[in-house]
Amino acid sequence: MYINFWYAMAMAEEITADKPFKVRRLGQDFVLYRDEDGSAHCLHDVCSHRGGSLGDGRIRDGHLECPYHGWQFNGGGDCAYIPSLGAEGQKIPARTKIDSYPVQEKYGLIFAFLGDLPEAERPPLMGPDWNPQNYEYPAEEWRAVAMSWPITANYERCVENGIDPSHNEYVHRAHGFMGDRQDTYKVNKLEPIEHQWGNGFWHRFYAPASTHDVLYKGEEARDGEGDLNVSAGHSGPNQVWTYIHITDKNWMHQYLYETPVDETHTTAFNISICNFLPEEIADDDEIKAMNASIAEEDVVVLEGIKPVKTPDDMTSEVLVPSDKAIFGYRQFIKEWDRRGWRIDTKAVKRDELEKVYAIPSPRRRKEKGWVFDTVPLIPAAKPEEVKKAG
Ligand code: FES
Ligand SMILES: [Fe+2]
Repeated sequence: MYINFWYAMAMAEEITADKPFKVRRLGQDFVLYRDEDGSAHCLHDVCSHRGGSLGDGRIRDGHLECPYHGWQFNGGGDCAYIPSLGAEGQKIPARTKIDSYPVQEKYGLIFAFLGDLPEAERPPLMGPDWNPQNYEYPAEEWRAVAMSWPITANYERCVENGIDPSHNEYVHRAHGFMGDRQDTYKVNKLEPIEHQWGNGFWHRFYAPASTHDVLYKGEEARDGEGDLNVSAGHSGPNQVWTYIHITDKNWMHQYLYETPVDETHTTAFNISICNFLPEEIADDDEIKAMNASIAEEDVVVLEGIKPVKTPDDMTSEVLVPSDKAIFGYRQFIKEWDRRGWRIDTKAVKRDELEKVYAIPSPRRRKEKGWVFDTVPLIPAAKPEEVKKAG
């Protein structure tokens, strides 16, 4: 699991000004809430007084109030009020501050940047308004539906599943013949896509008539077997795109955010946007039901994969040409290792009863004097090793 990327934290409607929302991400607890202006905030969940969980507290005057002794924190992570000091002339110690993370609310989701990079250096947040293929989405033609679901699997396995063109034939009835066309089936002509933060491909293949009615709402929709143009790839360790071009004109594009809860649990967030006759789709439930059934087909396989985590070396599994994007993903993972962004999860686990760690926030680069140490990271490669790795 890596610091210094954008992570989907919650559905937008889950974050309110009435009640804090506690989530576990990257093996740490975070609390999200909205202030009086409706702006969403994301903070480290642990109170700097004596360790209360802010997510179990309440929201008062636009502040998070700890349930233990009522200390209040603002959206920036500063302690704004310590009740036991009395109402008048409080002197609040500077060390009471806790980490607060940059937030973006987009596409019906709340994202947080879990790391300390300054804004100009942050890897991008992928989605309709930034994507490696520079698609533009005129608002009137596209309709977006957001949803999320839990998976008991490692998030890297989930990402690799999203950029794996050869599982469709065997896992998804809507996209493959379940192995019935072995005489003609072959996945070896992938048109590669490379970009600064990841890799992917375009793939054209012969697919069955879809079992999902929602894909047949468009006038031009394919109504039987035929060629399907699909693109998939990743940006960063956790973001996946899938484009399904059902016909030349009718497209469904999906942006999937595989957020690590911890090493063995993932929350998948998905935005589906499609450009075909959106007004004829009675409600979002049809697209959600289709996505849920496809996701369920994936989840069944993902939850059985061994080992749970992707191997660190290239020899523990046999990769073939259809796994090219997965190979590329693992190369990127190594690059983020070399940058020193990988959380040392063994050290975190070893210390869990004695220490609170925090994911470093950008403010840590400018200010000293924090109560909690930052999560241990696997050390960055020495400059000469980076050079050697190319
Ligand atoms: S532990 Fe949070 S106010 Fe005391
Ligand atoms: Fe799949």
